[in-house]
Amino acid sequence: MVVEKNAPLQPCNTFGIAARAQTLVRVHSVDDLRAVRADPQLVHAPKFVLGGGSNIILTGDVKSVVLKMEIKGLRLVEETSKAWIVEAGAGEVWHDAVAWTLAHGYPGLENLALIPGTVGASPVQNIGAYGVELQDRFESLDAIDLATGQSFSLDAAQCGFGYRDSVFKHAPSEAQDGSGLPRGMGLAGRAVITHVRFRLPRPWKPVLGYLDLERRRAEAGVEHPSATQIFDWVCDIRRAKLPDPAVVGNAGSFFKNPTVSPDQCADIIAREPKIVHYPMPDGSIKLAAGWLIDACGWKGKSIGKAGVYEKQALVLVNRGQGADSVTGGEVMTLAKAIQTSVYERFGIRLEPEPVVV
Ligand code: EPU
Repeated sequence: MVVEKNAPLQPCNTFGIAARAQTLVRVHSVDDLRAVRADPQLVHAPKFVLGGGSNIILTGDVKSVVLKMEIKGLRLVEETSKAWIVEAGAGEVWHDAVAWTLAHGYPGLENLALIPGTVGASPVQNIGAYGVELQDRFESLDAIDLATGQSFSLDAAQCGFGYRDSVFKHAPSEAQDGSGLPRGMGLAGRAVITHVRFRLPRPWKPVLGYLDLERRRAEAGVEHPSATQIFDWVCDIRRAKLPDPAVVGNAGSFFKNPTVSPDQCADIIAREPKIVHYPMPDGSIKLAAGWLIDACGWKGKSIGKAGVYEKQALVLVNRGQGADSVTGGEVMTLAKAIQTSVYERFGIRLEPEPVVV
């Protein structure tokens, strides 16, 4: 277990916000987590679990003990006629894990290429892109209960996956709050994910329904693309639309795409005929938050050093760098201004996607 004091967090969050952790523990193994529990100075302190820092906004220094997850390892654990089961350590970089599965002949994660962050964070917000969500490829995970030190495993049903949602985003005391989780099922701040297993179905079938991907397939004139071709197309699409956090700090989509009832949608369409909307299997209608923000004229605008990305209005970016970086406060001021204008024009409340710390 490596313990650092007054550790800089700027390299640990993709937004590039400057902040410090009073105490940061680099966790390389399950034994390191046991060592944290055995340490009298650390055991009772509140903890904050950090993966790749791609979905957090730091609004100040972090007083909780930061557990920086660095557990590595990628392996095939089972192969049947129906699926490959691949296990990855929570600290593996997500995109590298996707590339590893493809290089070893286990396709299925290609639509999720280039999502920033680590494997351990992927179930927390049920990452998704281009027609595939983590829950579609999820087998199970291992975690440690920080309160008791006990290890346990969860299957997909126990993870309570929803759109960018899971039990790991809800406090233990949360009642049914629309998340559909029973009281007491929340695991936020309590469980640390150590390993994730993916179920990659055989025979492999491409998922091409998403408009951008279909367009790429038609342009390439390929009838039956391979998983590697889809991986390459997804990387190209993302690079063209989304800022590379290594160059321009950001946390991916800043707001969730909101859902409305068909009646609400009909009402909005009557006023805004061009609104981008998708019917969902449960009868609700999902609206493109990026379109709503764009329609309010925010694309390319800034408040202080917090900006709205020029090519995708759903992504907020850091227009500063290094010591001159944006603050979490500036990002949240911009986010609130966007929420207000979208509410005033469309009557829709946008909900932030990243965790505000
Ligand atoms: N749009 C605009 N203006 C904009 C941005 C978008 O008009 O500035 C319109 C687009 O033209 C399109 C629609 O909005 O018709 C949807 O845009 P896009 O295809 O870029 O997808 P998104 O809904 O904005 C979601 C995910 C992304 C994921 C993509 C692809 C959420 C919150 N975001 O974005 O996930 O990569 O679909 O599947 O669900 C993330 O969660 O961090 C993330 C990047």
